[in-house]
Amino acid sequence: MIPSIIWTSEDKVKMIDQTLLPQKLEFLEFDDYREVATSIKVMNIRGAPAIGVAAAMGMALATIEYKNLPKEKFLEAMEEAANVLRNTRPTASNLFWAIDRIWKIIDTYPDNPENLSELIIEEAKLMAQEDIIVNKSIGKNGAELLEDGDVVLTHCNAGSLATVQYGTALAPIRTAIEQGKKIEVIADETRPRLQGARLTAYELQYDKIPVNVISDTSSGLLMRLGKINKVIVGTDRVTSDAVFNKIGTYLVALAAKDNNIPFYVAAPTSSLSLGETIKDVTIEQRDSSEVSNVLGKVRIVPEGVECLNYAFDMTPFRLVTGIITEDGVFTHKELLNRYL
Ligand code: MRU
Repeated sequence: MIPSIIWTSEDKVKMIDQTLLPQKLEFLEFDDYREVATSIKVMNIRGAPAIGVAAAMGMALATIEYKNLPKEKFLEAMEEAANVLRNTRPTASNLFWAIDRIWKIIDTYPDNPENLSELIIEEAKLMAQEDIIVNKSIGKNGAELLEDGDVVLTHCNAGSLATVQYGTALAPIRTAIEQGKKIEVIADETRPRLQGARLTAYELQYDKIPVNVISDTSSGLLMRLGKINKVIVGTDRVTSDAVFNKIGTYLVALAAKDNNIPFYVAAPTSSLSLGETIKDVTIEQRDSSEVSNVLGKVRIVPEGVECLNYAFDMTPFRLVTGIITEDGVFTHKELLNRYL
């Protein structure tokens, strides 16, 4: 799959407009950080690592806008840009991780804004490259868990489109297939935004990886029927006591446990927030219309009835078999020992 986001040679941010997939593969190009912030909010780009890189590139655009200001004014304007980007989506830690990483450069180099701008643009580009390297390592580590003939269930889209390229949850599948193993994917449709049906199915078909889409309510039955061997999902934030991911992940984990099916979470270290616990995390609540209207169009709920639309849930570690990071595969205890 082609990269979901790049920094162009004209110093613009170019991204796939994921709201149009799978019908149209079209691109958006921005030279204003405010537009990047909006694109994160309305989910032209989505997925924890991808929005982290988008935020870093947004910060880089802001430096271009403000680089001719005196240092003090530059800092004020950059604070404002960081706040606008931080206030786009609350749950994925990568967004905050990325902005903090950019901010460290501002803190570390008491340089003039023009030089800072160059450094920050380079850092944002580096973060995009690193994302792919990290995902390939997750792929290599996770592929060891997969056997020839496995059918892997995934929820939402934690693939190439949710990162810069290659994906997190889909990385072990891609690598195992590159190694010659025969692997099939089952993708939950992932109501209400349908990232599984629209995006996971799109990118796997694009790369000729066998995939079947199921309604979210089917995975328990397929597990009981022995048609799923393993589950791999991505994550938006890993705290010391739970894994946050797309709404519905917890139910998949419960069903996997009940059927003795391994449940793995692919997590780049940029998604680890182990100094936090469940109570520190804001679960994004999105507009009621995402649930009441199919893809914002046909209304399926009686007029006047409001819907609850939590975008993420948390899965306790007792349901998680292992966490796949770029450094290896870890149990809960090992994860805390290594990274906390
Ligand atoms: O609301 P989204 O589409 O941004 O949610 C995405 C997910 O929940 C992904 O599983 C998660 O961000 C991991 S992406 C590698």
